Parts: sequence; C-alpha cells; structure tokens
Amino acid sequence: MIRPKEISTMKTCLLTLALFLAVPSALAHGTLAAYFGGQIAESGDYHTEFAVRDGAVRVWVRDQANQPLKASGKVTLLLGGQKLEVPLAARENGLAAEAPVKAGDKLSAVLGLVVDGKTLSQRFAQAGLVIPAALPPRAEAGRKLFEAVCATCHGTALRGTDSGPPLLHPLYAPGSAHGDEVILDAINNGAKAHMWKLGDMPKPEGIKPGQDKEVLAYIRAMQAANGLGSAPAAAMGTDPHAGHKH
Ligand code: HEC
Repeated sequence: MIRPKEISTMKTCLLTLALFLAVPSALAHGTLAAYFGGQIAESGDYHTEFAVRDGAVRVWVRDQANQPLKASGKVTLLLGGQKLEVPLAARENGLAAEAPVKAGDKLSAVLGLVVDGKTLSQRFAQAGLVIPAALPPRAEAGRKLFEAVCATCHGTALRGTDSGPPLLHPLYAPGSAHGDEVILDAINNGAKAHMWKLGDMPKPEGIKPGQDKEVLAYIRAMQAANGLGSAPAAAMGTDPHAGHKH
C-alpha cells in the first residue's frame, strides 16, 4: 500500500525529473547558454549574446527562458583608438552588422538596443588574440592542417564562426570535460551538436592517421598562449559533462 507521504515524495521526484528534462542542454551543461559561441551578458530579464566574426558582429537577445526576442539598435565599437557606430540589422534569430573587425581583434563594444519597447545597453570586450612567435614543430604542422580543414568553421583565430564554436574557450581547455580524448575524437569522427546551436560537426576531410595529434598540439598551444593553459574543471562550476556522453 502506498501512503500519502510516499505519493507526495513520488510527485516531487517526478517533478524534479520533469524539470531536469526540460532544462535546455546548454544550461544543464553549466554554461549559461551561449548558443552561438559568443559572450553572454545578463541584465534584468534579458540574456544578450555577442560575437565578433571576421568582418561582422552578431547579437542575439533572449528572454529568461532563452526564447529569442526581437530587438533593434546599434553597436558602438572601440578598436585601435577608433570609435565606430554601426546600425544592427535583423538576421535569422538575431541582429548583425558588417564592420571592419576581426575575431582576433582587441576591442570593446557597447550595444544600444531596444527590446520590447525598452532600452537595453550592454557592454562587451574581447582581448586581442595572442599568436605565439614560434610554435613547436608538431604544433606548426597542426596549424597548417587546422587552417586548411578546421578554420572554415572554427575561425582562423579559433574564436568560432557562424558554423562552429570557439575552441579558445574554457569548455575545451586542458583539464575541462573536453579533454584530449574528446578533441581527438572530434578530429577523427566529427561531433554531434550538444553544446551549442551550431549544428553537427561533420567528420573532417583530409586529416591522415597520426595528424590528429598535430592538430591537437596546435589547439593546445593556442589555448596556452591565450590564457587557457590549465583551467581546472572546477573553475567552471559544475561539470559540464555530468550525465552526458560523447
Ligand atoms: C563544417 C564545420 C566544422 C568543421 C570543418 C570542423 N568543425 Fe569542429 N565543430 C563544429 C561544430 C558545429 C561543433 C559543435 C558541436 C556541439 O554542439 O558541441 C564542433 C565541435 C568541435 C569540438 C568539440 C567536440 C565535442 O565533442 O564537444 C572540437 C574539439 C572541434 N570541433 C575541433 C575541430 C577540429 C580540430 C577541426 C578540424 C580538423 C574541426 N573541428 C572541423 C563544426 C566544424
């Protein structure tokens, strides 16, 4: 016989399970839902995601439930002592502007947006990409492969494009849940979409046996040069891959 107290416990369990299942995977992974590989800022009811591409910037505004919101506005870019104001235009589920910027630039950006009739101002900054003066031979071989095979999606600055996430990211740093094994597996087999909303990574073409380690050496060298040398998994809060398989 089931007593009322047990029923309420069961209900709580089912409710917890339902909530758990309803959480979008990026949240369950402990990264506040940067869907497209950008930086996230929160203010009031809004999550604003901002990304710099080669020749363009991208902006997405979402509500607390991560539903895309319509927005309009402009971005003021500060780079190399210059100030540049560009209007943002609607693009897919966000906003975009062409701008004389690169993903590897040191810059800051102030977004002046109107969302739901309310003004929203948000500031972002990114550091300049550090390119090591000389790479060890293995990493140098990896650089050529990366630029030929991976950069179309992950960017020559390894900071992502509209087709692939940034690899200079704590999620992929040494000691993170995406360790060497996961990176080698992606190089050899591709990867199913699970961290972002950028789609699947197809199996890369043109990496010969053994060259996967060269590509890995290049990614690790670039991460180390850009302050992602040995980020312990603990620094990211929850284990992003808890209950999650590759
Ligand atoms: C056609 C575009 C494309 C190409 C080419 C590509 N990737 Fe990816 N890659 C992606 C996407 C999209 C994801 C994100 C999958 C997700 O949501 O986690 C990804 C994810 C990854 C991951 C994380 C894998 C995981 O299991 O979490 C690594 C590491 C990676 N890519 C490295 C590379 C390397 C190295 C190359 C070149 C050998 C490469 N990628 C080529 C699109 C691409």
